Amino acid sequence: MPSFSIHTYGCQMNVRDSEILARRLRAAGFSDAASEDEADVVLVNSCSVREKAEEKALGKLGMLCAARRERPGLVVGLTGCMANRLGTDVFGLVPGLSFSVGPRAAAGAVAGLARRALAGSRGLFLSDAERGPDDAPAAADAGAGGPPAHASFVTILYGCNQRCSYCIVPSVRGREESRDPRAILAEVRAEAARGAKDVTLLGQSVMRYGRTDFAWPADISSPMGFTEPLPRLLELLAREVPAVRRLRFTSGHPLGVTAELVRAMREIPAVCAHLHLPMQSGSDRILRDMRRGYDSARYLEAVRALRDGVPDVAITTDVIVGYPGETEADFEATRRVMEEAAFDNAFVFKYSPRPGTVSAAKPDDVPDGEKRRRDQVLLADQDARGRRLNDRWTGRTVEVLADGPSLRNAARWSGRTEQNKIVVFDPVPGLARGDFVPVRIESARPQTLFGAVAL
Ligand code: SAH
Ligand code: SF4
Ligand code: F3S
Repeated sequence: MPSFSIHTYGCQMNVRDSEILARRLRAAGFSDAASEDEADVVLVNSCSVREKAEEKALGKLGMLCAARRERPGLVVGLTGCMANRLGTDVFGLVPGLSFSVGPRAAAGAVAGLARRALAGSRGLFLSDAERGPDDAPAAADAGAGGPPAHASFVTILYGCNQRCSYCIVPSVRGREESRDPRAILAEVRAEAARGAKDVTLLGQSVMRYGRTDFAWPADISSPMGFTEPLPRLLELLAREVPAVRRLRFTSGHPLGVTAELVRAMREIPAVCAHLHLPMQSGSDRILRDMRRGYDSARYLEAVRALRDGVPDVAITTDVIVGYPGETEADFEATRRVMEEAAFDNAFVFKYSPRPGTVSAAKPDDVPDGEKRRRDQVLLADQDARGRRLNDRWTGRTVEVLADGPSLRNAARWSGRTEQNKIVVFDPVPGLARGDFVPVRIESARPQTLFGAVAL
């Protein structure tokens, strides 16, 4: 039985795609390799969002192909966003690559491609445009073994129609396409049967779920009276799969924060008080140039609606520093708006021009050292803010979904709150991964809460 190993870069959607690929390979008779060094087939599931991400994947592929000198039969395959971006050019960049397949085509094609490559074929390529009918993750995949997971992801919306000026995702992930709620329900049920208690629904612009080329099935009603597809979907999943005690969705967009969605977050107990709401910049001039569709006032309005409507909501964000033409004044505006929004956490990215995007035609004129400085300033701001915000949790008892021994100190355990905050605590006898435990918070750091189990 040939064995496989998958190396994943990029976003949660790629993490989910890798799980589906693993299940498809197991179902086709492949086994999990004990380690990448022993695998017959190694897949690199890649990301194109920044140049660094592509460099990492290319470096990894180069190393794997070089390892063929000692392991002549080794099959090396590329999946994910770079497969779509590079097309057949990738075989020039990575001599010896066995095959390359786009992220939507991969699930249906990966086992066949791996078999052909094991039989000696090289340079096989399948773009997403040529994908077959069985690309969608079927609920049946969940039966194909692999580790149980108490937290998992389910993709509900493929692609992206937004075309933000800097972003390569629409060109590598294609047009928006919402999945049928019945297929999503079947998949969430299957995840619950494997032990999932916390499910994150994924879409690049997830609040666009059901907004284009889509009709909600007439036979699925909304007793809560929702008319919008995402609130309806959340209601449906919460009602039909009670074992999933926590539902999340990501990534958000301020224009998608409707009154109904806020009500869904407040009134459906399973929907977590947590939202990742990328802001990208606090400068109105830069936001306009980025084609984000909102200004800082509109963004802050969405934040206010969430804070007013959803008790204890945690809001996290993404920000890009060093976008073309970003001045010190633009940057200071970003700092101010981040402070006003009072983010629980922020991911800061240094602008990276991506081929073919609108902003790549502009000079990348903020020097790298300055990008790094702005990155560090925002992270220091966030540290101070995170500490202040997290202090509010001390003395309170929160429900934690136990993830297992903490990465930093295996004697202690870590888990997550509904707000997705990491909590570190001493385990109690009988505690298992995937248990919900009440923890009384005793102290706080910018990224972590510390406490004791309160039974
Ligand atoms: N779909 C999500 C974001 C996907 S990419 C959304 O719209 O919110 C994840 C993050 O990478 C983005 O939020 C953005 O902050 C960052 N990013 C995207 N393109 C980038 C680029 N060219 N350079 C630097 N960061 C980028
Ligand atoms: Fe990229 Fe914008 Fe789409 Fe997000 S919404 S994936 S940033 S184009
Ligand atoms: Fe990267 Fe593709 Fe996700 S470009 S961020 S892996 S959608």
